[in-house]
Amino acid sequence: MKITKAEFVTSNTDYKKCPAPVRPEYAFIGRSNVGKSSLINSLCERKSLAKTSATPGKTQLINHFNINDAWYLVDLPGYGYARTSKTNRAAFAKIITSYIEGRENLTNLFVLVDSRHEPQKIDVEFMAYLAENSIPFSIIMTKMDKLSKEKAKKNIEIYQNILSQDWEELPPMFFSSSETGQGREEILQYIEDINNSIKP
Ligand code: GTP
Ligand code: MG
Repeated sequence: MKITKAEFVTSNTDYKKCPAPVRPEYAFIGRSNVGKSSLINSLCERKSLAKTSATPGKTQLINHFNINDAWYLVDLPGYGYARTSKTNRAAFAKIITSYIEGRENLTNLFVLVDSRHEPQKIDVEFMAYLAENSIPFSIIMTKMDKLSKEKAKKNIEIYQNILSQDWEELPPMFFSSSETGQGREEILQYIEDINNSIKP
């Protein structure tokens, strides 16, 4: 799929104020600093469409991007950011869960995890929460450029093995780098296939 148009639409804390839910929507979630905003930029081949930062906690709102006037990409705040106050963390969690549970056109959620680390409790618990709520999701292992080929293969195996303890069938998995563009084509193809399958 070719992205010919990618533009910022709005930022919200309340999912009810987001753009009318009339188009398929794909949102990116995961721990703070995992690379959500960078991946959105990489998919759209834009440097600063979504705001990124080396400091965790950059994205604090639900950000909508109009893609090709046909579907939305959504950049969400990260979860599990330890250095913010408890009140703040709870507020973010509320924004995220109300969006996930309430947004009727949410077509697929991409859960981003850092390819350098073993599955973290918070990610595994989050995926269990999604399953309990029947939210369709896929996993993207990010920052693949930071790993050697051998290490990448090993980490992917470890990840799949640990998830297999909880899951009979694993969700689709993608492997990305916003630096090299790895995974870009596969992720866009996946979105295009879903969009085609739900066309009225
Ligand atoms: P929050 O909005 O704070 O939740 O973070 P985020 O998940 O949106 O992360 P963001 O895209 O802002 O990236 C965090 C840091 O990781 C930045 O310094 C990025 O440059 C870096 N980064 C993101 N993706 C990649 C990647 O694929 N490879 C490398 N090497 N660095 C990356
Ligand atoms: Mg961000």
